[in-house]
Amino acid sequence: MAEEPRYVEHAFDGDVHILRIANAPVNTLRTEVRAGLLQGLQNAAKQGARAIVLIGTGRGFSAGAEMTEFGKPRKPPSLNEVFDAIENSRAPVIAAIHGNALGGGLELALACHARVAAPGAQLGLPEVKRGFVPGAGGTQRLPRLIGLEALRLIVTGDPVSPAEALKLGFIDAVLEGELEHAAVAWARQHAGDKFVLAKNRTDRIAGYDAAAFDEAAKKLTARSRGQESPKGCVTAVRAAFTMPFEDGLNVEREQFQTLVAGEQSQALRHIFFGEREAVRIPDLPADAKPLPVNKLVVIGGGTMGGGIAMSAANFGLPVTIVETSEEALQKGLKRCEANWERTVKSGRLSQAEYEKRRALLSGTTAFEKAVGEADLVIEAVFENMEVKKEVFARLDKAARPGIVLASNTSTLSIDEIASATKRPELVIGMHFFSPANVMRLLENVKGTKTSPVAIATATEVGKRIGKLPVLVGNCDGFVGNRMTGKRGPQIEKLLLEGCLPQDVDRVMEGYGMAMGPLATGDLAGLDIGAAVRKARGTVAPVADAVVAAGRLGQKTSKGYYDYDENRKRMPSKEVERIILDLAEKMQVRRRKIEDQEILERVLLPMVNEGARILEEGIAYRPIDIDVIFINGFGWPAFRGGPMFFADRLGLKAVRDKLAHYAEATGDPNLRPAALIEKLAAEGGSFATLKSAKAA
Ligand code: NAI
Repeated sequence: MAEEPRYVEHAFDGDVHILRIANAPVNTLRTEVRAGLLQGLQNAAKQGARAIVLIGTGRGFSAGAEMTEFGKPRKPPSLNEVFDAIENSRAPVIAAIHGNALGGGLELALACHARVAAPGAQLGLPEVKRGFVPGAGGTQRLPRLIGLEALRLIVTGDPVSPAEALKLGFIDAVLEGELEHAAVAWARQHAGDKFVLAKNRTDRIAGYDAAAFDEAAKKLTARSRGQESPKGCVTAVRAAFTMPFEDGLNVEREQFQTLVAGEQSQALRHIFFGEREAVRIPDLPADAKPLPVNKLVVIGGGTMGGGIAMSAANFGLPVTIVETSEEALQKGLKRCEANWERTVKSGRLSQAEYEKRRALLSGTTAFEKAVGEADLVIEAVFENMEVKKEVFARLDKAARPGIVLASNTSTLSIDEIASATKRPELVIGMHFFSPANVMRLLENVKGTKTSPVAIATATEVGKRIGKLPVLVGNCDGFVGNRMTGKRGPQIEKLLLEGCLPQDVDRVMEGYGMAMGPLATGDLAGLDIGAAVRKARGTVAPVADAVVAAGRLGQKTSKGYYDYDENRKRMPSKEVERIILDLAEKMQVRRRKIEDQEILERVLLPMVNEGARILEEGIAYRPIDIDVIFINGFGWPAFRGGPMFFADRLGLKAVRDKLAHYAEATGDPNLRPAALIEKLAAEGGSFATLKSAKAA
């Protein structure tokens, strides 16, 4: 019979007791852990412990609350009961932290009499990033230990190192060597000290300066447009400075309960779990092991090739760029260097780390030689099928048999590219997003013949170089670009029927998008879309007229907007004229369009296409689509992505609205996808859908 899992181990080193949290993999504070801690503290007290060391087993101290317990009836004991037991303990309780002490994990440590940490630890309160506030006293204890700096830690949610925590004053020592051993020695040495509990400290919250607090809060929340949790953090932390401890805890609890039940927090948790799920590929056979990759070769050192190579070097993977001429090569390498140098100047990268990265990057024009030494090749040459096929035929000959050849194409068929080789099973798309050294998303594109080993390899390498690889099927635009492409016709209609570019962008940016769709078009260059339309024989009256007026976007200082020398965008009178003239010519009666209609007409065409993508099996799961939009398309994580948006609206409403807009705007593309019809009829949702193909 399997042994019962034990969630808290109780050990002794003389009269120093040790409580070890043992809930692999990250020691979340699930009910059994809380109960185990309470029991352990009671036992230690009974047995006359002189000091108690609280430590985590395995990878770290504790990653915090068990989020899967949220929204379910709470089982006792609560964390606060555990904290009471710690704070009432006669023997001092010392938290010994290695790995992560995050959220409830750090709050547990803050309730202890003292804290010591191993050098590599990370300490933080990331709750704000999941859409709520620390809910177990963190907003009240941390300010009492470190003053106003607590506001920064809690509102940004960013963790700090033990060295910084020591400087700020919320840990007592950084201990070298084996942590448990060192912590027991520290506890024995300090057992007789007079510890003041965080909740009883007043020195760091004395002299509250409302103006300074407001100023700091304003700065810290300036970037979190539309997001509620940073404001909740400010309210709770302010209470630490202005109220007694118990009253502050009540303010914190109110904020926590309201936010945790809210839509934004649900969206953020949906994405948090989704990002972990999306990288797992459901039907990959167990023996599909990734091939070892210790040398990457990138073909083409342009915008994308350079960014991909930087990503590899940033994460310690040696990489060689292959270019056609020495001149193009030097230009590509210089661009990478300049990019890193900017990061060094801004203080976000040390000179030593820069040199390490630079040493991992090399370049050559000797195609065959470099490719012959590669473990994986990623091609990023011009977006042209003939060019790509030529490159792949050459790669196939030069590369060792058995290695994977990937293409960064953003639109071309992986199957056709693969057909230029004798190893189509080892050809895969690795679609990075621009700027490739920054954007986390990687759409790995599976061709008809792509093998599990190629998929496993692309996934593994993607993770290794800091990306979030999501596997998608081969089609025009794959998932992200195919869906965003579908909003274009409705945006055109909105512009003709009554909106101006700034109206559409205001609504989408108000929703939380990093940048509205028309401003994004200006940034990318409007000639790109025009070329695609020309190739496909489609028209977009407004966009075509804007391009015909020589307005190609930021690169010509005018597109849907006018731009000043600092690239600041301003509404354009000329564009307004173009739109009004066109509307008149096309006999479209302009009217005032409500914000809600703008939002729906931009988002619902994407949702509809997302449903078709699921029907076709191009994406495995709805969550994959949401993760793609959050990580590659500037979609705000607190909105949860397009499929989450649809679920919140309810699929019956989605179906009815799509049918209405299809009729009202004469756009057959908006007729509800079969999957939406089906789920709406069943009362289902994307969240409950496991696989559309199986449905
Ligand atoms: P780019 O024009 O900046 O770079 C292409 C580079 O490839 C040039 O430096 C060129 O000299 C080099 N090159 C051409 N033929 C070559 C050959 N036979 N051997 C070695 N080098 C060769 O283009 P960009 O923007 O980097 O795009 C590259 C690929 O990435 C395209 O397939 C594009 O669709 C895709 N992509 C582009 C994105 C973007 O936002 N720019 C986003 C995602 C994918």
